[in-house]
Amino acid sequence: MPRNRVVLGLQWGDEGKGKVIDLLAVDADLVVRCQGGANAGHTVVVGGKKTVLHLLPSGILNENARCIIGHGVVLDPIALCHEMDDLLAGGSDIAKRLVVSDRAHLVLPSHPHLDKAQELAKGAAKVGTTLRGIGPCYTDKAARSGLRAGELIDLKAFEAKLRAHLKASNVIAQALGAEALDIDAAVAAYLPSARRIAPLVTDSIRILHEAMAAQKSFLFEGAQGAQLDLDVGTYPFVTSSNTGIGGILTGSGLSHKQLGSVIGVVKAYTTRVGSGPFTAELTDARGEALRQRGREFGSTTGRPRRCGWLDLVIVGYACRLNGVDAIALTKLDILDGEKELPVCIGYRLDGEVLEGPPARIEDLARVEPVYQTLPGWSTPSTGARTFADLPKEAQDYVRFIEKRLGVPVSWIGTGAGRDEIVVR
Ligand code: GDP
Ligand code: IMO
Ligand code: MG
Repeated sequence: MPRNRVVLGLQWGDEGKGKVIDLLAVDADLVVRCQGGANAGHTVVVGGKKTVLHLLPSGILNENARCIIGHGVVLDPIALCHEMDDLLAGGSDIAKRLVVSDRAHLVLPSHPHLDKAQELAKGAAKVGTTLRGIGPCYTDKAARSGLRAGELIDLKAFEAKLRAHLKASNVIAQALGAEALDIDAAVAAYLPSARRIAPLVTDSIRILHEAMAAQKSFLFEGAQGAQLDLDVGTYPFVTSSNTGIGGILTGSGLSHKQLGSVIGVVKAYTTRVGSGPFTAELTDARGEALRQRGREFGSTTGRPRRCGWLDLVIVGYACRLNGVDAIALTKLDILDGEKELPVCIGYRLDGEVLEGPPARIEDLARVEPVYQTLPGWSTPSTGARTFADLPKEAQDYVRFIEKRLGVPVSWIGTGAGRDEIVVR
């Protein structure tokens, strides 16, 4: 039987999904992105060489895998062409094994423009988006006014629709206090990339179902993380897609019976980019130290990531909501040398200890973390390859996580490189 796997981020994104996907892709015939867009930044480090993928599935380094951009993804042709060119410069012609769903919505020039205008209009209440046009694109999708990749089959008709769309969007941009987009310039900048990706566009649902029937093995690559989910994350400080198992289902067109096991990626501490409550955040020198040691700067925007202790309240919540079978714990090495490791195991709100995050953002901003403090370790875990190689306290840290969550930790990251991992 083929082994199908889903990889999901269980925190606020940037958990190290790229590394885990790259590792698991050796067994996969197909690697499938199902939601999000170029807001994602998935890092793969092989032989000291770093590659950051935004729209392309992180399984591309497996030359035998077919890469699918499913219909739940919002696709920016300009960003995709940049990424394909970067890989081409490195000697890999991904276009030969890349499929783009004809139902995937296109990020149009109006979308980043509106993203910026909306953020500016929100002022201090801004989401802190990646400004890649994600929210406005999904808004158009839900409003049934978007344009899909399938439209690229007739570029002339597409151009007319694009112009009409940009004209309508300019009214909204101006209402938000932004300048109107120069439509001729935007169309001229967009069409060459649109033309280039048009031959890759096809019915991905058919391809996925045929591959399933042929017993091929699948790796589904989640983007963002559970707390950025549009429905169950820290709304409104979230992205505009479903980042959990639901997004994999609706964004691929396969049935839940076909998805296989669910691997949740968890960083050994917590980071967040952008605005919104972060219960276990460290705003002092310890947070800064984690940021420096962990090189916690955004893979997409370069912004400094906010850092804090491991929060098992949100990770437990994500495990329950997504049916997580196993955890890949990343960046354990970054905790080397910490004397003590507080782990958040509860949220206290008005005298009551909650097991999951409250829905109202005002309540979430008020919760106090309940910590259990574990001893740190002084010998390095960096580069460890077996569980027994890890310092005893690091082993205990892992066992504590497993026990609290009731989910096995099957991979432990001890460095950024592909082979710097403990497989249990
Ligand atoms: P993603 O968005 O979930 O794919 O994660 P990012 O690529 O945005 O951020 C994770 C960062 O941590 C990248 O720079 C990775 O190279 C790095 N990384 C992943 N796993 C490990 C690990 O176990 N140890 C260390 N030190 N770095 C890691
Ligand atoms: P990966 O896949 C971390 C965050 C943004 C912002 C919010 C909304 O690399 O884990 P958006 O541009 O999506 O409308 O921004 O979501 N965000 C991410 N944070 N990792 C990501 O992706 C993210 N994608 C979006 O910082 O707070
Ligand atoms: Mg990332």
